[in-house]
Amino acid sequence: MRIIIGITGASGAVFGVEFLRRAQAEKFLILSRWGHYVLKEETGLTEHHLAEHVKRAFSDDDLSAPFASGSNHFDAMVIIPCSASTMAKIACGIGDSLITRTAQVALKEKRKLLIALRETPLSTIALEQAHKLSQAGAIIMPISPAFYHHPKSVEQMVEQFADRALATLGFETNLAWKAESLE
Ligand SMILES: Cc1cc2nc3c(=O)[nH]c(=O)nc-3n(C[C@H](O)[C@H](O)[C@H](O)COP(=O)(O)O)c2cc1C
Repeated sequence: MRIIIGITGASGAVFGVEFLRRAQAEKFLILSRWGHYVLKEETGLTEHHLAEHVKRAFSDDDLSAPFASGSNHFDAMVIIPCSASTMAKIACGIGDSLITRTAQVALKEKRKLLIALRETPLSTIALEQAHKLSQAGAIIMPISPAFYHHPKSVEQMVEQFADRALATLGFETNLAWKAESLE
């Protein structure tokens, strides 16, 4: 599977990093300008540290990158964490950065688009935009870790959410709630 991962300037960069680490796929990374900033601020990491997990990283300014065109196939795009601002742009059909343009491509080509929104509280505008995107086929997956696995640490909460996102894309994970009772 070929996945494009966008990391924007919402809080929760660690969720993007964990998703990158765990996804067994051909991965391409796009960090927005504020994504770079929040990644460094919250985790101490830079794009350089993420390079080992991806085939290639592209600049968010580079609209000549292959995935800005629908002719270059990818299976899914995951924006994690996704800021309210990036979600708003996508909902309005704006594609003026590589992240928003690739999301626009995903929607028009009917490919999977998972938006791991990180914002709280949510304004009426953001809720309307999330609704619009959901109707257009995007998966709106607010960053919202579960507790039914009894996490012992923040790391485990982050891992659980990253695996949940992977499961949503069709990857096999063993995090189903009470799966043992199905045996
Ligand atoms: C430390 C920090 C944390 C932020 N957290 C959030 C957040 O959780 N959600 C959000 O929507 N915006 C957040 N922002 C604001 C976004 O970074 C800002 O709206 C930016 O323009 C988003 O651009 P981008 O989506 O292209 O990365 C945060 C900004 C900073 C500096």
